[in-house]
Amino acid sequence: MKILVTGSNGQLGNALKNVFSKDEGLEVTYTDVEDLDITDREEVDHFIKENKFDFIVNCAAYTAVDRAETDDLKAAAINTVAVGNIAQAASRNRVKVIHISTDYVFNGEGYRPYEENDEPYPRSIYGRTKLEGEGILTSFCQDALIIRTAWLYSEFGNNFVKTMLRLSNEKDSINVVADQIGSPTYAGDLADAIHHIIRHKKWLPGIYHFTNEGVASWFDFTKAIYEIAGKNTIVNPIPTSQYPTPAKRPLYSVLSKMKIKNIYGVKIPYWRDSLKKCLSLLGEK
Ligand SMILES: NC(=O)c1ccc[n+]([C@@H]2O[C@H](COP(=O)([O-])OP(=O)(O)OC[C@H]3O[C@@H](n4cnc5c(N)ncnc54)[C@H](OP(=O)(O)O)[C@@H]3O)[C@@H](O)[C@H]2O)c1
Repeated sequence: MKILVTGSNGQLGNALKNVFSKDEGLEVTYTDVEDLDITDREEVDHFIKENKFDFIVNCAAYTAVDRAETDDLKAAAINTVAVGNIAQAASRNRVKVIHISTDYVFNGEGYRPYEENDEPYPRSIYGRTKLEGEGILTSFCQDALIIRTAWLYSEFGNNFVKTMLRLSNEKDSINVVADQIGSPTYAGDLADAIHHIIRHKKWLPGIYHFTNEGVASWFDFTKAIYEIAGKNTIVNPIPTSQYPTPAKRPLYSVLSKMKIKNIYGVKIPYWRDSLKKCLSLLGEK
């Protein structure tokens, strides 16, 4: 089975390298912007036509949520227009696409876990460009499976866990937002779910939600990181109003995973268990 992973130098791309390398039946091509810039329509067309892939896993994205507020053209070029390039080339060459989207497509005013067909209403440029990416993908490509995830962290690149570990070496106490609720999600678990879907006998395109099990605030998440890693830094809970950011974040961004569990039988670990795993890989436990 031939697979193309785009944006493979990022968190999810690296996690996929770990998972796919254990499956000898897969022939995987890993690209990032320097090998295959997904905004280059001709290059994408040519690359997908030349290599007869069975699946494309699109991990390439503009993920700087705050910077996107002032860099909207670039965010849209990567998160929306380039997804259209992949969709059209995939559709012409009958390649299945797995694309990653975000909880930021919702406004966060919900009171129960968001289901796949709940009305999206992004509050940030990043969220809007990702939602439009979903739209352009499904309008050009019938064979597209979109996985919305949230609060992704891993042993790779920059992420919340690594920032908090760095801050614990620099500060005696820190303030962390306690009124935004979501589900911390280990990229390795999402990579396992993607592998499971690729290897499943069923292929049912559409939108799916995937995060780790359980919910937490950023404050809870930080407390857990420090508790497991044995850090003494004091964590003070603060409201979002005391930590203004250029992009508005959803206050409640818990996603329902019933669909991916029911259709694909994906087993999802509890977030604290996966956090322990990641911290151990980072040598922090
Ligand atoms: N991180 C989160 O908390 C989070 C939450 C919800 C959903 N998601 C979604 O999950 C997916 C994976 O996220 P991630 O955290 O793995 O992202 P990431 O670490 O930022 O990786 C994205 C990769 O795409 C590359 N890229 C950027 N522009 C490109 C282009 N034009 N052509 C090819 N590659 C390009 C990036 O390169 P550069 O680094 O050089 O730009 C980077 O290596 C994304 O779709 C993201 O929107 C992430």
